[in-house]
Amino acid sequence: MKGIILAGGTGTRLHPLTATLSKQLLPVYDKPMIYYPLSTLMLGGVRDFLVISTPTDLPMFRRVLGDGVELGLHISYAEQPQAAGIADAFRLGADFIGSDPVSLILGDNIFHAPELPDVLWRSLTDVDGCTLFGHTVSDPRPYGVVEKGADGRVVGIEEKPSRPRSSEIVTGLYVYSHDVVEIAHQITPSARGELEITDVNRVYLEQGRARLHSLGPGSTWLDAGTYDGLLSAAHFVRERQSRGGRIACLEEISLRLGYIDADACHALGRKHKNSEYGRYVMEISSERNRGRLEHVAE
Ligand code: DAU
Repeated sequence: MKGIILAGGTGTRLHPLTATLSKQLLPVYDKPMIYYPLSTLMLGGVRDFLVISTPTDLPMFRRVLGDGVELGLHISYAEQPQAAGIADAFRLGADFIGSDPVSLILGDNIFHAPELPDVLWRSLTDVDGCTLFGHTVSDPRPYGVVEKGADGRVVGIEEKPSRPRSSEIVTGLYVYSHDVVEIAHQITPSARGELEITDVNRVYLEQGRARLHSLGPGSTWLDAGTYDGLLSAAHFVRERQSRGGRIACLEEISLRLGYIDADACHALGRKHKNSEYGRYVMEISSERNRGRLEHVAE
């Protein structure tokens, strides 16, 4: 299954933090921001990735993630020379998408929702049109906002409305049929000169081919693209991890999904052996190894 991580843009909302560093590589507690969207798609079954970023930042992403083989993934890269809009990802990714369904995630969106892996996997398996993921927020104005009819079905989506019609917003995670490439070529840039993702979603809505999955009450969604969002994300990760386990540990996800074995996982952890992150990766692979040996001994 295929996924695109959009990790470009100018990051001006985070200046001077992002004056020389890509936003999606900033630390969110113990790991680079891009680990979080990558892990979300991995948990949904995606193994084939396209990372899109600016010509300046792309080499850094290559250094951080490489070709993905060590994690049992395939990661390729594409340059976005100008911030031409989120939907530009489908023009740039046309060859990558080919005739397959695809998921797109924004590189600054952080999800923690128990049902998400299953819902994402099912959407990627049977999408005909698009699946959007909604979340309720206290101030929906900076986002794409969902409007629902009396029967609860989505009747409209408005981008950054000054008077939102609901408090449910469209998060930066989307699943599309391959015809999203065609639609991205048909839409025209908005007043701010960008190919808007909301315009793509509206086409599917008009065709009656848009589904909305509203993330449940136990779920967390964070936009780490502001000072407060970035700090909240770090606090969230720290708090969750203090109860045990780790969020967005790529090596652990690959191990649990069977993409790599315990020895390979241990070797990946050893690369970061001086950090708690690295020690955690080595620990979980040793546990897995012990489990395997006990099982063999039975
Ligand atoms: O976060 C969810 C929201 O994301 C949705 O509710 C909105 O409907 C959607 O339009 C988008 O709104 P933003 O204002 O957050 O979009 P922004 O322009 O900030 O771009 C989001 C991310 O995508 C950001 O991390 C940078 C990256 N990006 C953006 C553009 C426009 C690119 O890589 N290339 C681009 O051309």
